[in-house]
Amino acid sequence: MVTVILGCQWGDEGKGKIVDVLAQHADVVVRFQGGANAGHTVVADGTQYVLHLIPSGILNPKTACVIGHGVVLDPASLLEEIQLLAKLGTDLKGRLLISNRAHLVMPYHKTLDQAKELAGGDKKIGTTGRGIGPAYTDKASRVGIRVLDLLEPERLKDKITKNISSVNQILEHIYHAPRIEAQGVIAEYLAYGKTLAPYIADAESYLVQAVRDKKNIILEGAQGSLLDIDIGTYPYVTSSNTTAGGSSTGSGIAPRKIDKVIGVVKAYTTRVGEGPFPTELPEAEGNALREQGKEFGATTGRPRRCGWFDAAVVRFAAEVNGADELVITKLDVLDNLPKIKICTGYAYRGKPLPHFPADMEVLSEVQPIYEEFPGWQAKTSSVTEWSNLPQAAQNYLHRLEELVGVRIGMVSVGPDRAQIITKK
Ligand code: IMP
Repeated sequence: MVTVILGCQWGDEGKGKIVDVLAQHADVVVRFQGGANAGHTVVADGTQYVLHLIPSGILNPKTACVIGHGVVLDPASLLEEIQLLAKLGTDLKGRLLISNRAHLVMPYHKTLDQAKELAGGDKKIGTTGRGIGPAYTDKASRVGIRVLDLLEPERLKDKITKNISSVNQILEHIYHAPRIEAQGVIAEYLAYGKTLAPYIADAESYLVQAVRDKKNIILEGAQGSLLDIDIGTYPYVTSSNTTAGGSSTGSGIAPRKIDKVIGVVKAYTTRVGEGPFPTELPEAEGNALREQGKEFGATTGRPRRCGWFDAAVVRFAAEVNGADELVITKLDVLDNLPKIKICTGYAYRGKPLPHFPADMEVLSEVQPIYEEFPGWQAKTSSVTEWSNLPQAAQNYLHRLEELVGVRIGMVSVGPDRAQIITKK
């Protein structure tokens, strides 16, 4: 059984917890895109773990974790995570596989990412500064350095030297920033090659065999569908395919082998970085939701922009992903509100908009059409059965299902593994 779990908003939907819960029954969990821009928070037995690159299934000792070739891998960030997990007693030997085809994030990618953002002024994207865009740019330009190059010292030296020479042209002449010395980077990456060698593998053939053996496989998305480079709110997106198609191209598991797609969404909406956000709440209301939901970036600590649930966004994401099931997270964050709104669709220049717009100028002008619901004003964080949810909460969730057109499979009411309701 191959299941894709991905976000159907702008990221931070709480996928890490859902993957961790479902990984209790998984043989393999695979990250297929993105890099250390992701921050997947998992709470197990009262301890909080923030994972950036290692799949969220790692806390289940029987689950193998694969970093697929669609990921851009920052070895410094990965090593920090490996060391942290080792300190906490999680053994990764034989359980973590890094695809030899994955591309590497280099220090100069981070320099370029940050320099571009700084120079961008009001056109900046609001990236995480983790070098993601420049690493995917090198991949698409066919000058990227891959994980397998770490094991070939001469080739590695040659590639780093050539790339840094072009990067220095850009730094010097476009950004008027200091040059980078190749020697230090070469020494650093040669050392990574030695440390990471035991984890580097032909992950694609491992996964093909796992599919043949009918293993239970989870493909874990990072970021959210609206941040997809093709279908998202371009240019305010990340540089990879975060949607279901990306799970196949980024892992090597053929599309026809995927059995199920689960879309994870928050009971409201958040967004980090720039770009239009039709249901964004004004400062005071947004702050209340942010404090209650602890909406601060797991990777950058930035405050997240908060707003009402946007069914136009989730319907669109569910369609392009072919979602079979929705998981609603953070329902408990709405517990104290007297009134809750859902955006059912948009009006644009006085007329209903039939499709989610491709043009960000249109999206920034749309008027959300709202339905208002009475809040339940009761604590849901210890509810474990659907029938024990307050009636107003059930009504709210039923309306979400109706508007998105996909059934809800689970509802999360708190960060802990146990705080989950399965809907029959
Ligand atoms: P990048 O992926 O760092 O290039 O950033 C591009 C956009 O994606 C920015 O708006 C980021 O805030 C957003 N982004 C990247 N990773 C995440 C994530 O894990 N959660 C939410 N937003 C993200």
